Amino acid sequence: MELSGIQKIVEKNGTHRSALIPILLDIQDEYNFLPRDALTHVAQSLDISLVDVYRAATFYKYFSLVPRGEHLIQVCLGTACHVRGAARVLSETQRKLNIHPGETTEDKLFTLETVNCLGACALGPIVVTDGEYHGQMTVSKVDKLIRSFEKQERVKKDEQSQKH
Ligand code: FES
Repeated sequence: MELSGIQKIVEKNGTHRSALIPILLDIQDEYNFLPRDALTHVAQSLDISLVDVYRAATFYKYFSLVPRGEHLIQVCLGTACHVRGAARVLSETQRKLNIHPGETTEDKLFTLETVNCLGACALGPIVVTDGEYHGQMTVSKVDKLIRSFEKQERVKKDEQSQKH
């Protein structure tokens, strides 16, 4: 991969060990995942082992080692959400997207993940889309949510095709 973008991120954050997480955050935001070559480059730049870089990259759920879709959908399966019907919400999300947790749709539009608790138990079941919390989710709310993303995408594509 082209490493000049990664190098810019390293230069922006500095090469002290403590810059590791800010660098990984910036790479994740820029590329939607942490490419292997990027992690090797970061390890060399910060003069730390690749194992340490991977340890950090796999510790935080925010990071992904495989490319994510344009939209990240996280379904909370923590106890409070579970007793309020999170399993039904998850299975409807899987059915709608035709993928399992950890997978990305073929059109690269959605990645589905499960999480354990998002600290908003009273509002469960919780679904987070691109960092935005949706409380008291139901099967029909999931349908609506996914349809709204698909609609946004169609509008975006129409706008792009009109420009060309
Ligand atoms: S269990 Fe889902 S937010 Fe706490």
